[in-house]
Amino acid sequence: MFEILTRRQALGAFAVAACVLTPVAVRAEDVVKIGVIVPMTGPSASTGREIEAAIKLFQAQKGDKAGGKKVEVIFKDDTGVADITKRLAQELVVNDHVAAIAGFGLTPLALAAAPIATQAKIPEIVMAAGTSIITEASPFIVRTSFTLAQDTVPLADWALNNGIKKVVTLVADYGPGIDAEKAFVEKIKAGGGQVLDSLRAPLKNPEFAPFLQKAKDLKPDALFLFVPSGQGAQLMKQVAEREFAKDNIKVIATGDVTDDEQLNGMGDSVLGMITSMMYSTAHNSPENKAFVAAFEKANPTMRPNFMALGGYDGMALFYAALEKTKGDTDGAKLVDAMKGMAWMSPRGPISIDPQTRDIVQNVYIRKVERRDGQLYNIEFETVPAVKDPVKAAKAGK
Ligand code: DHB
Repeated sequence: MFEILTRRQALGAFAVAACVLTPVAVRAEDVVKIGVIVPMTGPSASTGREIEAAIKLFQAQKGDKAGGKKVEVIFKDDTGVADITKRLAQELVVNDHVAAIAGFGLTPLALAAAPIATQAKIPEIVMAAGTSIITEASPFIVRTSFTLAQDTVPLADWALNNGIKKVVTLVADYGPGIDAEKAFVEKIKAGGGQVLDSLRAPLKNPEFAPFLQKAKDLKPDALFLFVPSGQGAQLMKQVAEREFAKDNIKVIATGDVTDDEQLNGMGDSVLGMITSMMYSTAHNSPENKAFVAAFEKANPTMRPNFMALGGYDGMALFYAALEKTKGDTDGAKLVDAMKGMAWMSPRGPISIDPQTRDIVQNVYIRKVERRDGQLYNIEFETVPAVKDPVKAAKAGK
């Protein structure tokens, strides 16, 4: 017996048939959006450009599908201003319904977005900022960059093992600089060394000359430096003018200062400089050689720096989490999937600490050398699987 369809049922059936027949490429529910908020203009523009290039490379290499979903990346420029970061994060959640937010070129920007991630219950993948406290600002924060203490403690150890006893520190006066200073000072003092002074330069429009002169006058064995990515060239120009080597003062730094993005333009005065960092363009592994070749092919005027790695690995983490949840975009499930995740990055083996959601990674001690006519940070010592020392110390208490 055939039933006679009501007008309503007939229309419903027609609508279903139309849906099936209409060649819609991807249904909305099969698209997962991730909003990447980074500075692409202003003093930290290189951070945004590096992260954007790395994310685009990741998708070009691995495709745009993960966990059966199409991954769509929305890039936003916060110009390095925290209020803008927060507004963009809100808009991405409310208007674009993103499954995650990512990027965050400076510590205040990562912190500004934290309450949004908590309220929206979506992952915040920190790809650049490095102050230890960040991951504690929301249970939804996972970090693929680094912490300053993580990179600094191995350098302080190197200094102690290389006859450095008296030091002066000079850092950018905000979260990561203070973390770097604290980590370096504590380690040097614990190792029997002496800290002659700890100097802090303003983050905005810094004038390093008076601080450098003061450091020189104190005649330490070494001057330890940290400034964020993008300020290294200006700092090292002023360091070169003071000729520290003539007074037998070693200049050492976190790798943010000899940033691969700017290093080649710094000139011969940085040759021989010792730094510590979790990534160098010159890292000697098959994975990194392939990564650098692909990155430079896609971006002929750029070199991948440590910020690029934060972006590349942050994307790898988001894809892997989506695979693990089989495309379920529930934020708590995605963060759970990220905890304990371990993989091989171009920087070396990395994992996400399931307790702290911070990255565990090798830290390398490097020396600036000329290779094939270009300046590189050449790694000569590896400290394996370093956890953020600040959180490790808190956990131990
Ligand atoms: C931060 C920014 C940087 O560019 C950097 O190299 C290290 C830390 C930060 O603001 O957290």
